[in-house]
Formats: sequence, structure tokens, C-alpha cells
Amino acid sequence: MSGIFISFEGIDGAGKSTHIHALADALRSQDRALKLTREPGGTALAEQLRNMVLNDSMDPMTEALLVFAARRDHVQRVILPALARGEVVLCDRFTDATFAYQGGGRGFEWQVLQQLEHWVQHDGQSGLLQPHTTVWFDLPPAVAAERLAGARVPDKFESQPIAFFESVAAGYARRQSEDPARFVRINAHQAPAAVWQDVQAALRARGVLPS
Ligand code: TYD
Repeated sequence: MSGIFISFEGIDGAGKSTHIHALADALRSQDRALKLTREPGGTALAEQLRNMVLNDSMDPMTEALLVFAARRDHVQRVILPALARGEVVLCDRFTDATFAYQGGGRGFEWQVLQQLEHWVQHDGQSGLLQPHTTVWFDLPPAVAAERLAGARVPDKFESQPIAFFESVAAGYARRQSEDPARFVRINAHQAPAAVWQDVQAALRARGVLPS
């Protein structure tokens, strides 16, 4: 039995968290075994690395190495075991965020990230671990900035200027163009109820939710 791995992506302020929780509730109500997790994070070690990545200043390569170190631990200890048990894994961000933030936002080399992705997510038997579906909440950076303004104390990324998020969004678009079948692009510039309708429709179409 093998589970289903779903990741959720988007720039800060895109509103993905609400919908991840709504989806978790919808799956639980059907008695699906579920693992709700996030990156960077998801294990004790990876949560410590998250703290550093979100709060300490560092060069882009250090940032990329730390998020991939956190990911390795998370994949080995949490994601692969949950999938092997047949669970649905809902992951708030995964490797596309590294391409978007460290690649697009910070300008770190795409090819080096591809190499790190291969080292961290590839194994001889099952090939490259990727989400079955990636739900990408796409929102203009200016709108996201308005939503974030005053909402809470911003972390290192949330306090970046709009130009940074334009580059992050371009990173997501590039990732989607490299693997379009995996991505579901959701127009996040709508009322939350309309976004939720779109998320449900996309996941029904992919057999994650019953039609
Ligand atoms: P986020 O997922 O938005 O969590 P919260 O809702 O608690 O703020 O925050 C994670 C931040 O980490 C986000 O700004 C994106 C960044 N990030 C990277 O820069 N690289 C990565 O590989 C990942 C997974 C996240």
C-alpha cells in the first residue's frame, strides 16, 4: 500500500494554511489516515534548522544547504514512513519552495539546487521522491504584501520587499513549467470560499477527494 504525497506552495501571504487545514478536516471525515507536516520542519532536528533559516542571516548557499538538510531528515523519518503506511501526507511547502525562494528570490544557482534535490530525494529503488500533486496558490505579490501588512511580526522572508516576491513567484512559475503535470495552479486572488471550491475541485479531479 502506498500513500499520497501532496505539497502546498505559494508566496508568503498567499493563504495556503487555511486550506491545508480544511483539506485535512475533509480527509479525516472520510477516515483517511493523515500526516500533516511542514517544511522547513516536520522533525525535531528540522524544526531547529527552520528556526535558523527563518531568523538568522546567512548566504544563499548556507540557506539552501540547511533547508535540504532539514528535508533529508524529514523525508527519511516522516514522509517516507507515512507513505509506506498508506497515509495521505499533506506538506506545507516542499522542494519547490527552495527553487522559488533560494533559486528565484535569492538568485542561487538552479542547477546546484537540482543536484541537491537529486541527492536528498533520490533513492536507487523508487527513484526521485516528488509530490503526487503540488497545489500552488498563485497571488500577485502586491496583494500578498497587503494581506501580510500588520498581520504579525514578519520573519526574515516576510519582511522582504515586493521585488523579492516577484522573483519568488517567477521561481514557482519556472518550476511549474518544468513539471506541469504535478502542479495544480489555484487563483488565490479570490475570496477564501472560492479558493476552497477550486482546491476541492482540483483534488476531486485527481482522485484525492471523492467526486
Ligand atoms: P511559511 O511556510 O510561510 O510558514 P508560516 O506560515 O509559519 O510563516 O514559512 C516558511 C518560510 O520559509 C517561507 O517564507 C518560505 C521559506 N522557505 C524557504 O526559503 N526555502 C524552503 O525550502 C522552504 C521550505 C521555505
